[in-house]
Amino acid sequence: MALRPLDLFFFILSLFLLFPSPSLSDSATQFCSAGSEYGEVPSTRILIKGGTVVNAHHQQLADVYVEDGIIVAVQPNIKVGDEVTVLDATGKFVMPGGIDPHTHLAMEFMGTETIDDFFSGQAAALAGGTTMHIDFVIPVNGNLVAGFEAYENKSRNSCMDYGFHMAITKWDEDVSRDMEKLVKEKGINSFKFFLAYKGSLMVTDDLLLEGLKRCKSLGALAMVHAENGDAVFEGQKRMIELGITGPEGHALSRPPVLEGEATARAIRLARFVNTPLYVVHVMSVDAMDEIAKARKSGQKVIGEPVVSGLILDDHWLWDPDFTIASKYVMSPPIRPVGHGKALQEALSTGILQLVGTDHCTFNSTQKALGLDDFRKIPNGVNGLEERMHLIWDTMVGSGQISATDFVRITSTECARIFNIYPRKGAILAGSDADIIILNPNSSYVISSKSHHSRSDTNVYEGRKGKGKVEVTIAGGRIGWENEELKVVPGSGKYVEMPPFSYLFDGIEKSDANYLSSLRAPVKRVRTEAT
Ligand code: URP
Ligand code: ZN
Ligand code: ZN
Repeated sequence: MALRPLDLFFFILSLFLLFPSPSLSDSATQFCSAGSEYGEVPSTRILIKGGTVVNAHHQQLADVYVEDGIIVAVQPNIKVGDEVTVLDATGKFVMPGGIDPHTHLAMEFMGTETIDDFFSGQAAALAGGTTMHIDFVIPVNGNLVAGFEAYENKSRNSCMDYGFHMAITKWDEDVSRDMEKLVKEKGINSFKFFLAYKGSLMVTDDLLLEGLKRCKSLGALAMVHAENGDAVFEGQKRMIELGITGPEGHALSRPPVLEGEATARAIRLARFVNTPLYVVHVMSVDAMDEIAKARKSGQKVIGEPVVSGLILDDHWLWDPDFTIASKYVMSPPIRPVGHGKALQEALSTGILQLVGTDHCTFNSTQKALGLDDFRKIPNGVNGLEERMHLIWDTMVGSGQISATDFVRITSTECARIFNIYPRKGAILAGSDADIIILNPNSSYVISSKSHHSRSDTNVYEGRKGKGKVEVTIAGGRIGWENEELKVVPGSGKYVEMPPFSYLFDGIEKSDANYLSSLRAPVKRVRTEAT
């Protein structure tokens, strides 16, 4: 197989890093970021001229000046000297880089490991205008600290900024203690509970309750994968008994009603504990309706649809070609026609708040692990490189949302929820220089032949769109320009995320109101009869 330019670049770079001769290592440091283990890099000064600068609440014609990884000024007609790289953004949008709240890079799952690691996944992200992502750490045999350390190792080659959520897969004193350690010492402010994947990651309601209470006390956000894992198990048995072993059995075994049930249950338990809840990968109207109801009642529930659920429908799972059908297997499943459009509407009206990808990519060889049994097809689809383009084209291009809305749902809201705004998610003086330049008149075609993921397939194969990210600046460095990646392993930073985001405002007061509403314990006078 011929090496693509990016593969060749990775190969040469890894030779530099593995066998650094004095002259080679000198030149390698030219590419490296300040503070990385590979060396120091000169300061970067960039002026973006003449674009429309878009934030979540406002857009204006302005220049943006960047120095040493930080936005220094946002105003019209900034004058600079010759040593500054000038990018002309006339007629284009200058926006905060995307933040993907939901990825799985180098994740060991269903007997294999996702094909994109922190380097290839992030390189793909930069090519698509995403400059930060939050990945899910999976504990090692239930141990959170061991899981965190494993992910510290996995992420050493990062070429853009990233943060971590932590999954909780069992409950005991050690887990409870380690949650506190991770929040207070390691910058984790969210924990995910899987209500599906019986026999591996799934937790039961008693564990979820303990976890919700602990999250509340730490100011950490509880996240749920909401499907009824026991019922899914039953549904899978039913399909096998009917002789349905192919990818369509995946969708048939876990219908929307099981997502609606688990979403409602998690929402009610979070309400009982009085702590905020974040529902990941909302794929169905059934789940979305539960979130809408809860939010209308004043409950703090965040709903995250993912690009695949917004854009695709489930007919692919019936494709006679296993390689095609299996690439669409993810959980909860991609739903029949109608769900995606309803989720788009919910996103545009504020019922759902931000868009993720659930980037969890397996190549066709890995997917073939389930050739004879859909239960063994590794669950997951791509999207990290495609998210920004597809949301722009589908939602801004169709007039469903504005450019400012686009910034809010792809970047700013994520930064606010995970408490890193305005360092991230904004084009403001003092913010990190994570910036994209998007040309609304430029077109693209998505293909596994030209994408930057390591997978040999793409669930958006052949899809055409308008509105293309022409430049991505991450941490003040140009990482994508002229259709070329300029990425450096080790240049990405781990972003610590503090607890007690805005979602926790008012919790103490509502707890106090609850206690004073109880009219209990009632003081009873004991008579002789009692
Ligand atoms: O199919 C999926 N979603 N794979 C990744 C694991 C998860 O449930 O988020
Ligand atoms: Zn999940
Ligand atoms: Zn996921």
